[in-house]
Amino acid sequence: MRIGVVAENPIERVLLAAGVLPTPLLETLQAMLLARSLVVASKLGVFEGLASEPLTSRQLAEAIGTDPRATAKLLNALVGARYLRHRHGRYRLTRAARRWLLARSRQSLHDNMLFRFLEWDLLDGVESFVRSGDPLEVHRNIDPEGWNVYQRGMRSLASLSADEVARRLPVPKDATTMLDIGGSHGYYAVCLCRHHPGLRATILDLPRAVEHAAPILAEENMGERVVHWAGDALKEDLGEETWDLVFICNLVHHFDDETNRALACRVARALRPRGAFAILEPVRPESPESGGQTGALLDLYFALTSDSGTWSLDEMADWQRQAGLEPRKPIHLRSLPGQAIQIAVKRGKRSGPAAARS
Ligand SMILES: C[S@@+](CC[C@H](N)C(=O)[O-])C[C@H]1O[C@@H](n2cnc3c(N)ncnc32)[C@H](O)[C@@H]1O
Repeated sequence: MRIGVVAENPIERVLLAAGVLPTPLLETLQAMLLARSLVVASKLGVFEGLASEPLTSRQLAEAIGTDPRATAKLLNALVGARYLRHRHGRYRLTRAARRWLLARSRQSLHDNMLFRFLEWDLLDGVESFVRSGDPLEVHRNIDPEGWNVYQRGMRSLASLSADEVARRLPVPKDATTMLDIGGSHGYYAVCLCRHHPGLRATILDLPRAVEHAAPILAEENMGERVVHWAGDALKEDLGEETWDLVFICNLVHHFDDETNRALACRVARALRPRGAFAILEPVRPESPESGGQTGALLDLYFALTSDSGTWSLDEMADWQRQAGLEPRKPIHLRSLPGQAIQIAVKRGKRSGPAAARS
């Protein structure tokens, strides 16, 4: 999946194919304006304001408390970006806006759009990162409001793929215990528990994350079946033969190779025999040419924000193998192209049900 310059008429198609269009202009100024228009419109309530009926720019500005002339400019930008339509002086939502940008839609990215404001500031750090090699270490440096925006932004993103993960992840038949490391809002565990009625889950995340993630998890009404454990996954004792499933999603790109190897060994010890270790990640391609734009850009992003970057499926399988686990064929997600689950299973025979963590 890539973003880039798309011709809007036959002449542009010819010029684009001939390589004479100034693509760097469109991929910077226009790309920045597009991104900023979308996130500002989300924050100001533009999409919610148009949810029930088409409005003129003046009517919308009055409803959301903004300047009418400036609001019209923003709305026109969103028409160009195909998130709004304009007919007979009124603006209405397109299907894409309705599906992804309304706060209450099933797969809403509204809270994830608000996370962009935090990321916009983080991206200021790209130049100094490339000069010095020093990453931002976001998990050590976010302020309390940032933690809230981050946790809600991740929950919003999880709604895209959590159902598919719950359906396709091969959970051991008689599984009762799941540990979700760096699980934040817990939505993956919630969907897995709904899919496997005998399963209960513990979400291990940093104390400052749990503070903001706990109210998000509470909205799912899972009671004692999905609970938080506030701690540092690199320091806590994960137990021995305790979990049927250990799941880590969007976390190993924050850790370096040595840390991930050590974590895999502790996970292997903590798994019950026949238990599964599943790592869900945006996958780094084997070479810059083979990977496409998203994998390459995210590799830079995670290197900037933490200590590491994305990993290839082979690298993740290698951590699992050296921890004594048996890697299985990865699952490539359809709901989030470029993301995959690398699974490994612990050899051995089960002896009775797992003891839950007390
Ligand atoms: C990118 S978020 C992923 C959240 C969730 N797994 C998801 O995919 O939506 C990474 C999470 O890992 C947590 N985290 C980072 N370092 C951690 C550590 N050492 N121990 C436990 N959690 C950690 C962060 O607080 C954050 O909630």
